Amino acid sequence: MKLAVVGGGSTYTPELIDGFARLRDTLPVEELVLVDPAADRLALVGGLARRIFAKQGHAGKITTTGDLDAGVADADAVLLQLRVGGQAARERDETWPLECGCVGQETTGAGGLAKALRTVPVVLDIADRVRRANPDAWIIDFTNPVGIVTRALLQAGHRAVGLCNVAIGFQRKFARLLEADPSQVHLDHVGLNHLTWELGVRLGGPDGENVLPRLLAEHGDAIADDLRVPRRLVDRLGVVPSYYLRYFYAHDEVVRELGAKPSRAAEVAAMEKELLTMYGDPALEEKPGLLAKRGGAFYSEAAVDLAASLLGDGGSPVQVVNTYNNGTLPFLPDDAVVEVQARVGHEGATPLAVPALDPLYAGLIANVTAYEDLALEAALRGGRERVFRALLAHPLIGQYEQAEGLTDRLIAHNREHLAWA
Ligand code: G6P
Ligand code: MN
Repeated sequence: MKLAVVGGGSTYTPELIDGFARLRDTLPVEELVLVDPAADRLALVGGLARRIFAKQGHAGKITTTGDLDAGVADADAVLLQLRVGGQAARERDETWPLECGCVGQETTGAGGLAKALRTVPVVLDIADRVRRANPDAWIIDFTNPVGIVTRALLQAGHRAVGLCNVAIGFQRKFARLLEADPSQVHLDHVGLNHLTWELGVRLGGPDGENVLPRLLAEHGDAIADDLRVPRRLVDRLGVVPSYYLRYFYAHDEVVRELGAKPSRAAEVAAMEKELLTMYGDPALEEKPGLLAKRGGAFYSEAAVDLAASLLGDGGSPVQVVNTYNNGTLPFLPDDAVVEVQARVGHEGATPLAVPALDPLYAGLIANVTAYEDLALEAALRGGRERVFRALLAHPLIGQYEQAEGLTDRLIAHNREHLAWA
């Protein structure tokens, strides 16, 4: 089995390699190609990747290349984990929305729209080239904003599944609290990428006993503290929102906080510098502890599980993924992309049924889906007016003056990445 990782020079890659090494029985990777235009990073990351495999006795071959077409040739699956414009573009996404009193975040709100506009055309070009090289290859998309990017891929006819680590993060955390094996913990995980709620936590299987009430009674403080929302909010909802819901439920508070500290992009850029220095040390043969300070915990395990189900027979039959709605949430169009539990196999992902949703969640999901629809239009077709419409539709923006101000800033800060601007 051959896999390619586009954006393989990412400082996250050793996390992925560590997962491939540990879980080689689930996913027997024979060849792994790290593809990245940044030759210097690729050399450092590739070197460490090979040492991790060697140290763990993995016989798989790891190669690196800057040539996308050569890298994806014959790959059975291609993982996309790229960031158009790097941390510098992310830093801008996190900063200029604050000037209009709006949250500055890489996937939520106006910053997320900027990221979608920069990213969708690049990802679609990569996917076309993957398909030319191997029409049967699966595309596993980690590239944010995952919901919009996955929809773009599916709409263009690609064999793609979108993936995020929020669900596996909750699964692992709840398993720890319940002292259960993670494979026994199933989440009633519902919503859109980075806009989800855990409505239930089931033990033993997707239809097992719902232990969420017990979890909240026994560990409510720890769960709420982790999400940085008040315990009483979680108790009143009776469900667990992902930490991205804090940008909605505490928007103004977050805006004030963000205005008073360095951006996450700046923090990450400093960490990346340190990580790359470590990766260059020939004595380092494992992923460094510092990597745990990044948001991507467990993403390697989610990737292994998904690839194993798409390509082999070693993966979990039910996983949380991003795929077409197809009636799962009846108040959304079939071609909206939702993030829910799905049965995953060689033919792709099919969502499990979801019970009727409380309007408290359905309303926000419908609103953000409408935004994502307009965001994808803007990403595919360009134009100031389409950017404005997407911003006006976003539930965290909505006001005409803010949408105007944000539109101007988005275009001014991203001109070099927007073919139409
Ligand atoms: C979580 C999200 C990812 C996001 C990451 C950011 O893992 O699910 O989609 O890319 O956080 O982490 P960072 O360390 O870059 O802030
Ligand atoms: Mn994510």
